[in-house]
Amino acid sequence: MAERILVVDDELSMREFLQILLSREGFEVDVVSSAEQALEQVNEAWPALIMTDLNMSGLNGLELLREVKARAAQSGRDVEVIVVTAYGSTESAVAAMQAGAADYVTKPFNNAELLLVVKRALERQTLEVENVRLKSQVRGQYHFGNLVGSSRAMAEVYDLIRRIKDTRINCLIEGESGTGKEVVARAVHYSGVRRDGPFVAINCGAIPENLVESELFGYVRGAFTGANRDKKGLMRAAHGGTLFLDEVVSLPLAAQVTLLRALQERRVTPVGSVHEVAVDVRLVAASNVALEDAVADGSFREDLYYRLNVVRIVLPPLRERADDIPELVRHFVRRFSEEYSKELSSISPGAMDILRGYHYPGNVRELQNLIERAVALCQGVQLRENDLPDRVRGAIGAALAVPAPTEFPPEGLNLDALLAAEERRWLMRALDESAGNKTNAARLLQMTFRSFRYRLAKYDLDS
Ligand SMILES: Nc1ncnc2c1ncn2[C@@H]1O[C@H](COP(=O)(O)OP(=O)(O)OP(=O)(O)O)[C@@H](O)[C@H]1O
Ligand SMILES: [Mg+2]
Repeated sequence: MAERILVVDDELSMREFLQILLSREGFEVDVVSSAEQALEQVNEAWPALIMTDLNMSGLNGLELLREVKARAAQSGRDVEVIVVTAYGSTESAVAAMQAGAADYVTKPFNNAELLLVVKRALERQTLEVENVRLKSQVRGQYHFGNLVGSSRAMAEVYDLIRRIKDTRINCLIEGESGTGKEVVARAVHYSGVRRDGPFVAINCGAIPENLVESELFGYVRGAFTGANRDKKGLMRAAHGGTLFLDEVVSLPLAAQVTLLRALQERRVTPVGSVHEVAVDVRLVAASNVALEDAVADGSFREDLYYRLNVVRIVLPPLRERADDIPELVRHFVRRFSEEYSKELSSISPGAMDILRGYHYPGNVRELQNLIERAVALCQGVQLRENDLPDRVRGAIGAALAVPAPTEFPPEGLNLDALLAAEERRWLMRALDESAGNKTNAARLLQMTFRSFRYRLAKYDLDS
């Protein structure tokens, strides 16, 4: 049976055009001229997909999208919505994606691109029904790419990845260091239709400022001293695939301007060249600070921010999704037991308790490192408390530390040891109190960051 598409547009010529184009592809097409009419139609029969203009008198396309999604959720139905936006109105595309649109197309569009977007949205819908079924089968153990974790926060991340993986939509991944931003970027690429294209990663913070543009956009022979042959640049190297811009906040302002232009025009001009080259690249950017703050203080361009932030994936710190810890622990124990050819098959409940209670200032990376170390050192078949580093055990034990004596014991008092133990205890408490944020912990102890860090190292508390 042909899938039904409902077209909503207040412009007659556009309705006619879309009706012809989509019918020719074998879809059953209804057209209406307002959001209000669309809602009436939906009440009678649900289409598989709604394609709506954004700017309409009366209810606009965004309001229609929200209403349709709310009604669909209430009645347990699936409907995909694609919005049609005017050229250059990135903000509205962002709002639409955030409200649950499957995709957006920019006017003027080319027919092939529009049909591709429609087909993908419909395919995804079929897949999603299948996914819900599969997901309930695997329960508890749900992976996406190489990502482990079934907390609510991670389920939301998987959901976002699923929604964008088969599109060219740019996305921004934010999260503290070690939360898995790069793993997510790879999952977006390797699970989607671009997987056969290249995945090119660039760390914007690691390239000298004066080389960023030639690295990204390439150069032609003779463009500057030392340029003795043409170089393609990373943007073109990622053609047909994904360009991963890590630490995007470090991108110099001049390069931001050029990048924005390249994204708008889908073309790049190599340094020293007068010819533009077409590129088809999806950008995935990552940042361990909120990019919005960089926009606020003027170090990141707002227009580029909007281009990148069409979809934002936020990875919460591990301490805020403690539900993921046991699953990650088991995953890493299995993985490293194999790597180190160990017979480890379980984790003692005490060790698991400690691992669950720790605050992981270094997030998943820290957990992974400490399991690797524990597995490498472990002698038996079970991972135990003793296999965990002191700083992890200490963080829990701190509250239970032996109180200092109030009188001289008969054998005398080792003042150095006593003060050291006390100092260590307060360092750990400050770290706990500030959820692993060293700057705040230093402030709590009225010391400079530098001196705090020195003491952490002294007591083997640094990660
Ligand atoms: N959900 C996860 N499941 C499995 N492994 C994970 C997960 N999240 C992170 N990791 C592992 O933790 C390590 C750190 O992840 P990643 O490099 O993606 O972090 P990041 O957010 O990019 O950190 P940074 O900001 O320091 O670059 C990697 O080795 C990765 O394999
Ligand atoms: Mg990273």
